[in-house]
Amino acid sequence: MRAVEYAAYGGPEVLQLASVPSPHCGPGEVLVEMHAASVNPVDGKIRAGLLKPAPGPFPARTGRDGAGFVRALGEGVSPEWLGRRVCFVAPRGQGTWAEEVVMPASLIAPIPDTLAFTDAAALSLAGISAWIALVETTRITPGMRVLVHAGAGGVGGMAVQLAHGLGATVIATCSRRNADYVRKLGASETIAYDEVAFETKVQDLDVVLDLMGGDVHRRSYATLKKGGTLVYLNAQPIEDRGAEFGVDVVMAQILPHQAALAAIVARVADGTMVSTLSRALPFDAFAEAHRLSDSGHARGKIVLAIRPPD
Ligand SMILES: NC(=O)c1ccc[n+]([C@@H]2O[C@H](COP(=O)([O-])OP(=O)(O)OC[C@H]3O[C@@H](n4cnc5c(N)ncnc54)[C@H](OP(=O)(O)O)[C@@H]3O)[C@@H](O)[C@H]2O)c1
Repeated sequence: MRAVEYAAYGGPEVLQLASVPSPHCGPGEVLVEMHAASVNPVDGKIRAGLLKPAPGPFPARTGRDGAGFVRALGEGVSPEWLGRRVCFVAPRGQGTWAEEVVMPASLIAPIPDTLAFTDAAALSLAGISAWIALVETTRITPGMRVLVHAGAGGVGGMAVQLAHGLGATVIATCSRRNADYVRKLGASETIAYDEVAFETKVQDLDVVLDLMGGDVHRRSYATLKKGGTLVYLNAQPIEDRGAEFGVDVVMAQILPHQAALAAIVARVADGTMVSTLSRALPFDAFAEAHRLSDSGHARGKIVLAIRPPD
């Protein structure tokens, strides 16, 4: 089978399509025939050597999530899984940009026939990131005022929809060109970060979801009311100024999470939320997918169709 691998840190050009042996399921595992996988900023950061620990011995694989058919079962896995359409978020370092992937059965979530594999891949890591941040870490409740940074991005697009669905009033930052797109996802107000400083436009917030870090993180404190929460999931170190501003600063720990994934799948399946898939590229466009993600300005999700779209 074929898998995307790299043998040295660098730009997207280090990625190559390699012929490798098919994996075998161990106890508690399933073999997934992969149909789609999304690209996430973390893929580019790891490939560039910016995140430690390193992804393990070279050659390394890329990709954190995906969707496909369960084609084989390891010992102890319920036979009900065989042939099911599923999506998943993989443990870091394993790599999902491959024609076959072995996953713990405890991490896969079933998807309905009505949900395309490309959409299921698009909602996986981005969806659980929004869920863990807004439902499990922050506990958004109806009536809260929530600022979502980078509302046009993969996580931001899911977070805007989720917070809106939970009854919050959602304000989101994005570039001017993405304002209509983000409003359609459920933001009642957008702030064009390329035209105005967001902290001059919004105050007294209950929650800020920081998907940017750095300067955006520093400037976000002033927008919160006392007792508010600044939740972040960026990998960059932050300077915690919570005590100075009287706010809680919490990091959402994003780990593979079957229940969170199932909750997002259910919302997309019943139409409460939509997949934010913007482009599905063929498998051999793997380097282009990393390049588009590395730009930091992708709208919604970019997905690799590892097999031709269903
Ligand atoms: N810790 C974890 O496990 C974990 C999990 C998921 C994500 N993350 C991190 O969370 C961050 C967001 O992930 P993602 O998948 O949503 O990224 P993404 O899809 O690549 O985000 C791209 C979006 O960011 C927007 N953007 C760029 N600069 C901005 C600014 N100054 N203000 C507001 N929006 C801005 C862009 O909007 P425009 O095109 O309109 O400029 C674009 O739509 C990344 O750093 C990622 O690594 C971490």
